[in-house]
Amino acid sequence: MKKILVINGPNLNFLGIREKNIYGNETYDDLCELIQISAKKLGCEVELYQSNHEGCLVDKIQQCYGNKDGIVINPAAYTHTSVAILDALKAVNIPAVEVHISDVDSREDFRKISYAGMYCFARVAGEGFDGYVHALKLLLEKLSLCPT
Ligand code: DQA
Repeated sequence: MKKILVINGPNLNFLGIREKNIYGNETYDDLCELIQISAKKLGCEVELYQSNHEGCLVDKIQQCYGNKDGIVINPAAYTHTSVAILDALKAVNIPAVEVHISDVDSREDFRKISYAGMYCFARVAGEGFDGYVHALKLLLEKLSLCPT
């Protein structure tokens, strides 16, 4: 069974509280439940991780080395700033998909740049929580093409 890390960055623990007009009413726990139910259906093993701290996200990505087959990542605000997260993804060198709940490209200009996206082989944005399920499917498709 493929082992996937789904990693979420800053303020995503405040889903259901923060900017509901953009991110919706559902909580981070609701998101985790959706992802775990979908993982079961898709036949993969998912570990979930969320942190508000850039270094913790880097540490968690590094821990994927030798332990995970792929990564689904929503780096949140660090998408647009973090070379460290980009370098961590490059360092572990396993397939990764970038996901955003909102349609980042139709928002402020500063959200148009994505450092993590320079590594990820695919990006899902603007599909709400379902985007994580879409990202998981893309990742599993890719992994089935390159079995370990
Ligand atoms: C986000 C979009 C980012 O620009 C923002 O900083 C977030 C969430 C999204 O999921 O739509 O915190 O990654």
